[in-house]
Amino acid sequence: MEALTGRDFLGLTDLNPSEIQELLQLAAQLKAGKSKIQCSKVLGLLFYKASTRTRVSFSVAMYQLGGQVIDLDPKITQVGRGEPVADTARVLERYLDILAIRTYEQKQLETFAVYAQIPVINALTDWEHPCQVLADLLTIQECFGSLGGVTVTYLGDGNNVAHSLMLGCALMGMNVRVATPPDYQPVTDIVEQAKEIAGGKTEVILTDDPVAATKDSQVIYTDVWASMGQEDSAETRIPIFQPYQVNEQLLTHADPEAIVLHCLPAHRGEEITDEVIEGLRSRVWDQAENRLHVQKALLVSLLGAD
Ligand code: CP
Ligand code: NVA
Repeated sequence: MEALTGRDFLGLTDLNPSEIQELLQLAAQLKAGKSKIQCSKVLGLLFYKASTRTRVSFSVAMYQLGGQVIDLDPKITQVGRGEPVADTARVLERYLDILAIRTYEQKQLETFAVYAQIPVINALTDWEHPCQVLADLLTIQECFGSLGGVTVTYLGDGNNVAHSLMLGCALMGMNVRVATPPDYQPVTDIVEQAKEIAGGKTEVILTDDPVAATKDSQVIYTDVWASMGQEDSAETRIPIFQPYQVNEQLLTHADPEAIVLHCLPAHRGEEITDEVIEGLRSRVWDQAENRLHVQKALLVSLLGAD
């Protein structure tokens, strides 16, 4: 995996399909314990939003590789008191080997990447969650043997996860259907980009009809109806999103072998029922575990082994 050394990973289209496939292969080898890569470098975590999975999986990945992690919590570093991003970035690059950032605005992440001449990873922004979708792709590949031609349905809010999922599916030759309330569709730029990547060879469908989107689909995916930063509108969103809840009734329309994914954290009784997340189709715990394996593969390939 020489090709990714020194690069940033700010969104899913920073990788091409063969690079994603190679990453998934490396992740599978790491997961099976077949690769013992060591990489004694230092990762900085700069998270402006809460995180369990991303924070812990990046940290454990780095520790298992033999590297170190520094938590640059904005509450205890000067960037949280208004030190300019450009200044912080130019200092951090002198200490760290790689930086994973979780922000609100994609623009802020991009500014870090411009000023820090070390690899910068998108650990979630309001625009995309690409590390999540690498783990989702690994999970789907494990369940179906390959990715090409698999149909994925996302139900709920057209948010960061929906964006990365659309791009990831289009890149890997998969069909993607996104069912949202009319006012909560993914942004047009992402939809156009996904359609261009798919080139008419695979489906990129937007709809407000959850049943039509679910019909015969093999992967049913949902996420919270109100993302971090949208807490004020959480209550008003509930009745609007109710028809898009992933429940047993909706799943009767899916492929008989369909699996259910959720990036977590989940709001049981809102976007997904307790019965479904705990049910036989649910692969959410494998999906969460795969964050560790794909991010370890990503770290190795962006840093280069030493
Ligand atoms: N799915 C995900 O990114 O979870 P965290 O917010 O806990 O990191
Ligand atoms: N869309 C959610 C994902 C959390 C992992 C959020 O941004 O809060």
